[in-house]
Amino acid sequence: MSNKTYLTTGNGAPVADDNASISAGERGSLTFDNFRLFEKLAHFNRERIPERVVHARGYGAYGTFTLNKDLSDYSMANFLQGAGKQTEVFLRFSTVAGGQDSGDYVRDVRGFALRFYTEEGNYDIVGNNTPVFFIRDPAKFPDFIHSQKKDPKTNLGNPAHHFEFWASHPQSMHQMTIVMSDRGIPQSLRHINGYGSHTLSLYNEKGERFWVKWHFKTNQGIKTLTNEEAESMPSDGMQKDLVEFIEKGDFPSWTVKIQIMTEEQAKDYEINPFDLTKVWPHSDFPLQDIGQLELNRNVENYFAETEQVAFSPSNVVPGTSVSPDKVLQARLFAYADAHRYRVGANHQQIPVNKPKCPVHHYQRDGVMAGASGCPVTGHLQGSQVNFYPNDRAGEGAPVPKPNAAEPPMPIEENAWLKAYDTTDEDNYSQAGSLFRMMSEDQKVQLVENIAGGLSQATESVQQRMFEHFTRCDDDYGRRVAEAVKKQG
Ligand code: NDP
Ligand code: HEM
Repeated sequence: MSNKTYLTTGNGAPVADDNASISAGERGSLTFDNFRLFEKLAHFNRERIPERVVHARGYGAYGTFTLNKDLSDYSMANFLQGAGKQTEVFLRFSTVAGGQDSGDYVRDVRGFALRFYTEEGNYDIVGNNTPVFFIRDPAKFPDFIHSQKKDPKTNLGNPAHHFEFWASHPQSMHQMTIVMSDRGIPQSLRHINGYGSHTLSLYNEKGERFWVKWHFKTNQGIKTLTNEEAESMPSDGMQKDLVEFIEKGDFPSWTVKIQIMTEEQAKDYEINPFDLTKVWPHSDFPLQDIGQLELNRNVENYFAETEQVAFSPSNVVPGTSVSPDKVLQARLFAYADAHRYRVGANHQQIPVNKPKCPVHHYQRDGVMAGASGCPVTGHLQGSQVNFYPNDRAGEGAPVPKPNAAEPPMPIEENAWLKAYDTTDEDNYSQAGSLFRMMSEDQKVQLVENIAGGLSQATESVQQRMFEHFTRCDDDYGRRVAEAVKKQG
């Protein structure tokens, strides 16, 4: 028997010739019997799915999370029980603003989207390499992103737009200071920290809830590039670096830490714990070391895995949950909605998204629904009853599990339903602290990076920005104003 692998059509039939189409005569037209050619061309036309509207350019890899501290006092999540527990993960890094064909070494936030394949479902922490974000109200997200994307007329990036948005949104000062600092261009993805950024929550068997912030500190150390160094890098160098290090067994890793705040502490803490533009100072809420994250396996197929992976902050498991952070609440809608559009209604059946535990529910059918036992998309429902409630629990029909319920969350007494204006919350203190923490070299880089873009903005935008920088720190404001004047 020959051990050759024969080329086939999609229906599995061997193909005799894949180099020539069938034509009526050597110089004649093609005919309808070219159905193999039609299949090839038609499938080619459908090779692309919509790219992510943000974070389009990304690289993913599998790995392991090893818990080194039992967290059962805080959470009933099974991946947080017992020191030594290991859980498989998938991590996708990304840039935010550029399309799939943009470059790796741009000044931008890096996405740090992490999935834990736990025994009770997928838990996603869809974070960034920054502990805060540009906005604290989701109503501003599309405006903010539009200001970062290409100019609608010229199709070119326009730094003046970034500053025009920031001049009217001082809530961005903290995150903007991070992105404009040396950390805005990492040397590689192995050299960045990750943060859940939002305040998330854990709850234990006793029904006690804790607010938490997740931190993933790189064990490779933070390493960054200046604008000039970045210019000489190949556009896909970060992907190459990640794949090569994993391939040669030099696995990148991160120390996983959390900050914990009790519900009682949250009530009278001076900083709103659900404001995404602010960190919890370490002196008030120390980082607790809980484990190690290691990336140790590259994807086999970029499209199937890295492109089709669908992370969502709404992917929580018993013992983990969300918080009243307004931006997080909007994300609970936005991601699954994007996945239904980008990948399809059954995106959770694709292997990279499919939980590593049984899935039983009463959702049915839709495009590409897997049949019972199908190795690719196989849901286990098969011929099972498709409505609930039913009388067939004894035959394996799925039933709810009441002890998976999250503890009830109290709401403020006499709360008013209205649009709350947060424009004048403290937008400056933490950006100022960060500036003062920087070394002289970091301050010089920060100010030069800002001046490069701000000098292209209008006089009015520049004046408003100088005021914002000064309100963060006098020296910050003075240095930026001088640097912009120098640029001319
Ligand atoms: P700490 O001195 O305890 O911590 C400062 C933190 O800043 C460290 O985690 C350091 O960690 C990180 N850091 C250092 N340089 C930069 C930079 N250029 N960009 C971003 N992060 C940097 O101070 P506090 O907790 O009181 O926070 C002070 C300021 O530090 C905050 O206003 C915030 O801007 C920044 N920060 C705070 C974090 C927090 O969770 N409290 C987290 C990250 C930043 P590392 O070098 O390991 O990243
Ligand atoms: C991707 C929306 C804020 C991190 C996305 C996507 C959407 C989106 C629609 C594409 C999803 C997909 O097609 O798979 C929003 C909205 C936000 C918001 C509406 C605020 C209102 C944030 C914040 C963070 C974040 C605050 C981090 C703290 C990410 C990451 C990805 C992403 C890492 C890429 C995920 C991946 O690798 O597949 N966002 N986002 N986003 N977002 Fe957000």
